[in-house]
Amino acid sequence: MGRVSDATTQSPTAPGSTVHPADAPDAPWWRHAVIYQVYPRSWADADGDGMGDLPGITARLPYLRDLGVDAIWLSPFYVSPMNDAGYDVADYRDIDPRFGTLADADAMVETAHGLGLKVLVDIVPNHTSSEHAWFREALASPPGSPERDRYLFREGRGPNGERPPNNWPSVFGGRGWSRVTEADGTPGQWYLHLFDVTQPDLNWDNPEVRAEFESVLRFWCDRGVDGFRVDVAHGLVKREGLPDWHGRVGLYDEVVTEEGPEDGDAPGTDTDVLDHTATSSSPMWDQDGVHQIYREWRAVLDSYGEPDRILCAEAWVKPESRLALYVRPDEMHQAFNFDFLESPWDAAALRAVVESSVRVNDGVGAPTTWVLSNHDVVRHASRLGLDQSLPRPNGITAEDPQPDAGLGLRRARAATALMLALPGGAYLYQGEELGLPEHTTMPDEFRQDPTFHHTNGEVAGRDGCRVPMPWTKDSPSFGFGPGGTPWLPQPQAYGDLAVDQQDGVPGSTLELYRSLLALRRRHRLGRSVLAWDERCSDSVVAFRATADDGSSVLVVTNLGPDALTLPAAEVLVTSGPLDDGRLPTDTTVWLRSTDA
Ligand code: NOJ
Repeated sequence: MGRVSDATTQSPTAPGSTVHPADAPDAPWWRHAVIYQVYPRSWADADGDGMGDLPGITARLPYLRDLGVDAIWLSPFYVSPMNDAGYDVADYRDIDPRFGTLADADAMVETAHGLGLKVLVDIVPNHTSSEHAWFREALASPPGSPERDRYLFREGRGPNGERPPNNWPSVFGGRGWSRVTEADGTPGQWYLHLFDVTQPDLNWDNPEVRAEFESVLRFWCDRGVDGFRVDVAHGLVKREGLPDWHGRVGLYDEVVTEEGPEDGDAPGTDTDVLDHTATSSSPMWDQDGVHQIYREWRAVLDSYGEPDRILCAEAWVKPESRLALYVRPDEMHQAFNFDFLESPWDAAALRAVVESSVRVNDGVGAPTTWVLSNHDVVRHASRLGLDQSLPRPNGITAEDPQPDAGLGLRRARAATALMLALPGGAYLYQGEELGLPEHTTMPDEFRQDPTFHHTNGEVAGRDGCRVPMPWTKDSPSFGFGPGGTPWLPQPQAYGDLAVDQQDGVPGSTLELYRSLLALRRRHRLGRSVLAWDERCSDSVVAFRATADDGSSVLVVTNLGPDALTLPAAEVLVTSGPLDDGRLPTDTTVWLRSTDA
């Protein structure tokens, strides 16, 4: 939150005119699917070791079928030292014992398919773990060897190579380079790691790297998965020569300094970190060369025939026209729409980002996806309860200004109700259907995000959105597992929000999500025509979603201070109670009528 999208400079389409046309009635599943992100560490712990696992996920899949989603995406479950919560993969073809076995993965996929749920897994191609066999081989091999050429090893600058090869910092804080000790005990080459020091970046100019990842894609497709969420999809190719970069250095949206650091900074000594978002000039993000990789991946997935197996890009790329390049017909199927997630709670900004998103995606024939929360950002039930004029924070500590919980939840429900009526696909993050807030008072000793440690605690990081799910109020760890202490502590407030406290309770956030998802499906909203309604104003977002049979749903979100009079129509669902038939502030309604 906190940055108004570039899109606000465009004039919105006039009310009544089509912003986005209908999708074909027989459009493939992924063009309108709702995909639920399961964070395996925190979803359900079957063996009681305090960490979630695959059998836990399998056992809870009926809950997701009943919620009404189409697919799940699982964050990494591969063998990993877990220095970045599994985004540091040591073996792409096996399951970390903490999560189970390959047989457990097969059972999970089979059970999901039996329930009508598709399964996407995470693939992490920008870097491996330093415990990956390839990196061990690289360390044991001399400079210039084929083993080192799988990564980005370079000589240092300065008379004795004591300065890093360029000034790039790490996304997590500190330098983006680390120096190795050669076999003879002398200080040697440096390797690039845009994330943690234990996440060496791969060299995508090396054909062996490309062949290996195509083989990994096939490995998981052969086991039946329906697609991949591609981690740091904009990072694989770096600009030729790895030039210094004196552009913007900040944390996501927060500009720390206008100048890049001299040498990428000494590790862990300051808060300069690399912005994850590509700008037109950054040499580490969004290089044109990435697209050939995704064309090759698409051919691999297409070779499996129907139903389509898909690729979804995690690419923090601006402007939207650059992001759309990732979803051209022969590349990925979807890309996360982080501009929507980052929009402030402001009617004009929301309207602008919706319109520009569908415009650029329509331009390449791709569906737009919508997302409000994931494992890397402050949960939207808390984010929307913060001062909207401030930049979006990377985590919240007890010392930071605390979100207004009531306001945040009210807006979060309204935002989700708006999102789930939009055409295209949508991603949900586990626990948002319970209205879970961020854990904003987690004691520091529990924090595991490398960002927290690399910045000496100056940046809280992402642990607060990764806390284990509450299933039942009156059980140890709120039903997350049969015993043991959860790997991250749950706030007390999670008890009243547990699934068993909301199940079947009218007006609960869980029942709201179930209604929204059922109505979205019934009215084919993911495939509908989108047109702004005349009620749009500085404080109102209103649109009509019209299905192929001509029936339409009018969606109105009131962001203004005064309750809004509604047209006479059947109320399908509201994100909060109406006020004597009028729509209160921070509330969304779906209305059904042919003439509303
Ligand atoms: C994006 C993932 O979502 C995040 O959790 C991870 O830390 C980085 N990529 C590095 O893999």
